[in-house]
Amino acid sequence: MNDFRESTAATIATLPGDGVGPEVVAAARLVLQAVASRFGHTFTFREGLIGGAAIDATGDPLPNETIALCRGSDAVLLGAVGGPRWDSPTARVRPEQGLLGIRRALGLFANLRPIVPYPSLAASSPFRPAHLTGVDILVVRELTGGIYFGDKRLERSDAGEIATDVCTYTTEEIERIVRVAAELARARRRRLTSVDKANVLETSRLWRRTVTRVIAEDFSDVQLEHMLVDTCAMRLIQRPSEFDVVVTENMFGDILTDEAAVLAGSIGLLPSASLGAVAGGARRAGLYEPIHGSAPDIAGDGIANPIGAILSAAQLLRYSLALGEEARAVERAVRLTVEAGVLTRDVSSDPSCVVTTRAVTERVVSHVVAAEMVRAGELGRVRQHRDEAHSDR
Ligand code: IPM
Ligand code: MG
Repeated sequence: MNDFRESTAATIATLPGDGVGPEVVAAARLVLQAVASRFGHTFTFREGLIGGAAIDATGDPLPNETIALCRGSDAVLLGAVGGPRWDSPTARVRPEQGLLGIRRALGLFANLRPIVPYPSLAASSPFRPAHLTGVDILVVRELTGGIYFGDKRLERSDAGEIATDVCTYTTEEIERIVRVAAELARARRRRLTSVDKANVLETSRLWRRTVTRVIAEDFSDVQLEHMLVDTCAMRLIQRPSEFDVVVTENMFGDILTDEAAVLAGSIGLLPSASLGAVAGGARRAGLYEPIHGSAPDIAGDGIANPIGAILSAAQLLRYSLALGEEARAVERAVRLTVEAGVLTRDVSSDPSCVVTTRAVTERVVSHVVAAEMVRAGELGRVRQHRDEAHSDR
């Protein structure tokens, strides 16, 4: 391999966070190390605090050192944040503020959430296998705007308490996310579904107008459809194979991706990539995390599904390090592992065959490394052939 391609040196910040976060990040890191040794790259890992773990250690869910660590790294791999320990409704600081804060601090406005069910796992989804044929959805969720980041107030009046969350979107925020989604659609089936609630919300009406204009001006080759979010919630279940790329605002994207995860069989399988603007050069600021939460009920038991985190590491290779071949090698290794039935509890349809986080990870690593041996073998044969050809002359 190294005869043909340059090797990459990269610093990767790891933010394990809470619950099962540390377990799945450790798994993804082992897979990245296997990739580094197979392809001759050098990945340096630096760990930082976020979420509840950071609150416990420093009182702050997003310490400044963590922001600096992420800014100084080529990419960020995150586990999960949150848990009952920090969940009091009156808490002054919350783990989730760490996650929202790092998304905002790094300008990660585009959250990519692919949903592609594995046929061999159809039994762990509530759908008939035929219903899932051809399902390949990419949800592009706006991640640094909307109601998540608007003003929040709690006031007291004589009549009781009044809570307010403000939802704001600017034309610019909508334009840039639509461009990301349309570019991605271009490389796929060229269909874009924009999801809003334009029959009720002012932000959605601006969203719809802006999407229509951007697509008409610059993406006439992409077929655009607008869909109300309630209809979309129904269609995702009813006719999932009709979706290609879905673009939507922050909160709708949060809700619809948990729903869409049911198609895949388990939320533990799904990765995500949160990207900033392309800053020049091939590399791009990015944070990679499974879409599942901290699963405090199984934290520390060694049974969490590491696949969402491992596939997030594949996205990291693809988008932040521009290592597409390496990303595909990881995705292939995961597919072989799943097809062999090496599965954690959440996706196994046979309770007597359930394995641990570690066993799944080791199998993925073995496929990443085995592929190297296959390649080395091929390379050996090519060399031998070439040498023979030379000696013929
Ligand atoms: C997600 C999560 C987060 C979100 C929470 C933990 C703040 O649900 O990444 O989907 O709502 O964005
Ligand atoms: Mg969510």
